[in-house]
Amino acid sequence: MGKILVVGSLNMDFVINTDKMPVPGETVLGNYFNLSPGGKGANQAYAVGKLGGNVSMIGAVGDDENGNILRENLKSVNVDVSPVEVLKDCHTGSAFVTVDKSGENSIVVIQGTNKLLTTEMIDKNVDLIKKADIVLLQLEVPINVIKYTINLAKQYNKIVIVDPAPAVYGVLEDVFEKIDFSKPNETELSILTGLPTDTEENIIKAGKALNQKGLKNVIVTLGSKGSILINENEATHFPVPQVNIVDTTAAGDSFIATFAISLSEGKSVHDSIEFASKVANFVVTRRGAQSSIPTKEEVGNL
Ligand code: RIB
Repeated sequence: MGKILVVGSLNMDFVINTDKMPVPGETVLGNYFNLSPGGKGANQAYAVGKLGGNVSMIGAVGDDENGNILRENLKSVNVDVSPVEVLKDCHTGSAFVTVDKSGENSIVVIQGTNKLLTTEMIDKNVDLIKKADIVLLQLEVPINVIKYTINLAKQYNKIVIVDPAPAVYGVLEDVFEKIDFSKPNETELSILTGLPTDTEENIIKAGKALNQKGLKNVIVTLGSKGSILINENEATHFPVPQVNIVDTTAAGDSFIATFAISLSEGKSVHDSIEFASKVANFVVTRRGAQSSIPTKEEVGNL
């Protein structure tokens, strides 16, 4: 198995469970509330670690209780968190996650220390980039740091995977050619392209539009409909079996993390998507972000 480096966010998730998502101006009564370790970057690193991968994470937390909990949780699954800086008198990132009866979520992130990640912090850890086989990024840390890392990783011929979430139109276009794989969901694909993604035909058109701008492989995750790999040679649909969905939080994170693990083991892109789909389809049957990620033994039974 190769080495994976995750550069990204760590958040404490403040999770509200409710039967019905409120619409603007509406107040609803929820069922319960809890705190749980999250953050797209940390979820991805945690998933790699829990499944036995070799993983380091570059990020930043505050010198508060949440920062400590997040680092300890990653350490518990053997993620190397030595490059996660603890910033004095700063607040760790937090995410306010509302999950409804169907398992769908909506999330507002307060970046906190994730916003304070700098290119100097990346430079300090350049050896980790050199040693990595795959560099995995998301968009919850400053965009200049993301692009700096992508450029550096490509300079050292690494496989670069970007989870373009939260999606923003136009921000990645000048580095598309340096990204090997990107995994938007349908909503994110629409934001990235400005195109409709309401049908499979439109999703493929939007994915191809990204290919034409230099992004080699687009893997569009479609929830219970599986995913589609779009590149200049193909548009291949990977369906998933129907399961009882209780919470979709971190499904995308576990998908991209396990895709990276499989790729780092030398498996093909198709086999890696099949594996990632199985793990993500398991994650949606459990609650929480990192708490929903299966062990190696559980994955073995899938
Ligand atoms: O992808 C899920 C994650 O998004 C949550 O854990 C939350 O922290 C936000 O970053």
